Amino acid sequence: MKIPRSEFGRRRRNLMAALENNSIAVLPASSEVLRNSDVEYPFRQDSDFYYLCGFAEPEAVLVLIPGREHGEFLLFCREKDVEKELWLGERVGPEGACAMYDADDAFPIGDIDDILPGLIEGRDRLYYSMGRNSGFDRRLMGWVNGIRAQEQNGAHPPGEFVDLDHQLHDLRLYKSAAELKIMKEAVRISSLAHLRAMQNCSPGMMEYQLEAELVHEFMMHGSRSPAYSSIVGGGANGCVMHYVENCDRLRDGDLVLIDAGCEYEHYASDITRTFPVNGRFSKEQGDLYELVYQAWVAAVAEVVAGNHWNQPHDASVRVITAGLVELGVLEGDVDQLIEAGAYRPFYMHKVGHWLGMDVHDVGDYRVGEEWRMLEPGMVMTIEPGVYIGPGNTSVAKKWRGIGIRIEDDVVVTRSGCEILSGDLPRTRQEIEAVMAA
Ligand code: GLY
Ligand code: MN
Ligand code: MN
Repeated sequence: MKIPRSEFGRRRRNLMAALENNSIAVLPASSEVLRNSDVEYPFRQDSDFYYLCGFAEPEAVLVLIPGREHGEFLLFCREKDVEKELWLGERVGPEGACAMYDADDAFPIGDIDDILPGLIEGRDRLYYSMGRNSGFDRRLMGWVNGIRAQEQNGAHPPGEFVDLDHQLHDLRLYKSAAELKIMKEAVRISSLAHLRAMQNCSPGMMEYQLEAELVHEFMMHGSRSPAYSSIVGGGANGCVMHYVENCDRLRDGDLVLIDAGCEYEHYASDITRTFPVNGRFSKEQGDLYELVYQAWVAAVAEVVAGNHWNQPHDASVRVITAGLVELGVLEGDVDQLIEAGAYRPFYMHKVGHWLGMDVHDVGDYRVGEEWRMLEPGMVMTIEPGVYIGPGNTSVAKKWRGIGIRIEDDVVVTRSGCEILSGDLPRTRQEIEAVMAA
């Protein structure tokens, strides 16, 4: 399952149609990053770069020149090299970039200093995402300054630098049928992983042993990496938003919060389930779980084309605030508590985020002063939670150290939304049944 070549072409055409006349766009690939001596972090292509061409090697630069007679899509990449390929694996090479990736022309990356300035010269606008890659920022400025130095000889440097993010990220926000197919596969694999964790959990295990169950399932189904560091937090560790140590023992009577999603074909999934280590919720755990679940239900009901981005969040805040009052964790009038943000010590994040090639995907959440309208094809997470820190002495002791989040991935449709992770046990009853089996 892959994005078809024709779709990469369509993406480039759509982007170029949004660029001004006589412009050029330049996007560098990700760089390899050293982990420690002679060891690199696993390479992951830059999402914008990959979105536009599907080329997964480092040391590459993509150039788009809308309307250029001799070709609009140019790629600089590593040359073929028998000796290096023997050590480091096959390279596509410039010829392959044209034959397999539809570049109109491709050049060795080592020739970029000689070729790219000539392509920039004479264009009115240079589209580039400044500030993300300081090394490449400097090189690009060097090329532009080289053109400026030749102005008295008639050279024409670009008069405008324009951030490429806005146009490009707006395209990425709307998922195509092919993208949704891949994202559904990512979610399917992650759902299997969560199910496996539920089925294999028992008191006394280490958190990283549950993490191993997740990774096993990811890899067995063709995902080569989690989309982000997996969170496996037993007991009070579930109250730590970015807990990734995963090295404590899972205790009888505690909950465990697992936030984990695989990356598949450069697309992320992002799922959280919270379940009892021993398979049975206690009274307090069950009460809080039901509250978070009702917030999830209320938020999902607001995911419909025509609603704005914040409506699901507002719905979750209302349910959580009212529920915390009912349980005696908060006291007062629900409207006033919402107004005052009294829920924030217990629910400190938004109900979700865009999801796509990046787990926290690109795309504006506001248009001017207004929240963005939800439209078909947008994919987001719905992930309400309640976290009562172990040191929170403002609430009765019985609640402390309980952290619960329920997170699913949904796509906005014309009539509402489709829950991509709909099959994974979510209610208290479903979870207890799976764990008892
Ligand atoms: N796993 C990151 C998040 O839920 O936003
Ligand atoms: Mn998550
Ligand atoms: Mn998330």
